[in-house]
Amino acid sequence: MEPDADRFAKANEYRARAMKTVSFGVSSTPRGRQQPAPIVADFARGAHVWDNAGNRYIDYSAGYGPLILGHSPACVIDAVKAELDRGLRTASVHAGEAALAELVCETLPSAQKCAFVSSGSEAIQLALRVARAATGRTRIVKFRGHYHGWLDTIHAAGSVGNDGPSTIGQDPAALESLTIIDWGDIDALRTALTAEHAAVILEPIAVNGGCFMPREGFIEEVRRLTAERGIALIFDEVITGYRLSLGGAQAVLGVTPDISVIGKAMGAGLPIGAVVGSDAFMEPVSTGRLLHRGTFNGNPLSVAASIACISHLSDNAGEIYPRIDAMTAQLQEYVRQSAARHGVACAVNRTGSAMQIALGLTEMTTFADTAKADFARTQRFAGKLLSRGIQIIGRGLLYMTDAHGDDDIAETMSVFDEAFAQEAAEQG
Ligand SMILES: Cc1ncc(COP(=O)(O)O)c(C=O)c1O
Repeated sequence: MEPDADRFAKANEYRARAMKTVSFGVSSTPRGRQQPAPIVADFARGAHVWDNAGNRYIDYSAGYGPLILGHSPACVIDAVKAELDRGLRTASVHAGEAALAELVCETLPSAQKCAFVSSGSEAIQLALRVARAATGRTRIVKFRGHYHGWLDTIHAAGSVGNDGPSTIGQDPAALESLTIIDWGDIDALRTALTAEHAAVILEPIAVNGGCFMPREGFIEEVRRLTAERGIALIFDEVITGYRLSLGGAQAVLGVTPDISVIGKAMGAGLPIGAVVGSDAFMEPVSTGRLLHRGTFNGNPLSVAASIACISHLSDNAGEIYPRIDAMTAQLQEYVRQSAARHGVACAVNRTGSAMQIALGLTEMTTFADTAKADFARTQRFAGKLLSRGIQIIGRGLLYMTDAHGDDDIAETMSVFDEAFAQEAAEQG
């Protein structure tokens, strides 16, 4: 299918209007960088989204991860509609909270107590507070390339060569309690840990860093070291929770942290996050000694969506996870071969149903390798896919959902092939 030159005319028209009153024309900066233009989502069903000009896209952005069941899973939509009929009841205690916590405790190995918030970034802040309160210490170990939300105390070391703030406007002093080290470097961790460390926080499977599995034995050794020294081990499972398996990355790796942070997929598209952990580590928040605040925490709509989503995943885990993983593996293999056939250097990594493409290199196995990838070119390549009806996250990340089917995969493969052909022609 040849790209249609006018496809983005209405998107550009909207952007020009929005730029007058909405900062950067979007509600989160990366959305504004979509190439060739940020599409305006008008309607979505299953694996597909339609823009304001009626163009259909097969969607692998999956709402930046949450839409594990696709755009409009009947079980979630029905649960939210039923909840709407009961009134919004924002900031009330309601029975859904315990029902959701029970489901989380049944499914996530590290969960004995849950504390709900409204986003992953908030949950990370609460997890750090809980770890500090439980240990009476302050410092936090963070790994390069791992992303733990956009708030000032942790938004650092997201790109190679910059351990400082990730954006202008951040308070550099807020990062003073971080110790930043390389992912996978167990010797650096052993040396870095002191009696001042409250926690080690990490993405157990580094999806943001480029979709890498941890080096063999690394997570086990981090678990051993932190337990030995009374330091909280925090798994940031905002992406991997309910995406990699029903029990998250911790079930896949067989390592149980003290505290886990979940968000995204647990809410199937509605805003929710949670800090969960052992009774011992959650004690400060479970007893009310530690302040856990937030008007929208545990709001009935998000909780209803989450109960419906986790129940559905729980009932169908044996079918859903192997299927979406297999579809992603099939796509990964095809994309690798297609890039090679066209002579385009493109690394294609995968962890479960998350897949990262990066142009400019053929292998990307460590975060340091990401410095050699050409992310501007990857972003333009994502634009070539978008022009042909495939939406991925601009920096080259794709998420498979339970709504994708064989027809979607077949269409996606042929679009990748055309886009690589164009890429090859351009590189000459
Ligand atoms: C691993 C990880 N942690 C935390 C966050 C922050 O979550 P949120 O965007 O819901 O604030 C994200 C978001 O992408 C993430 O990928």
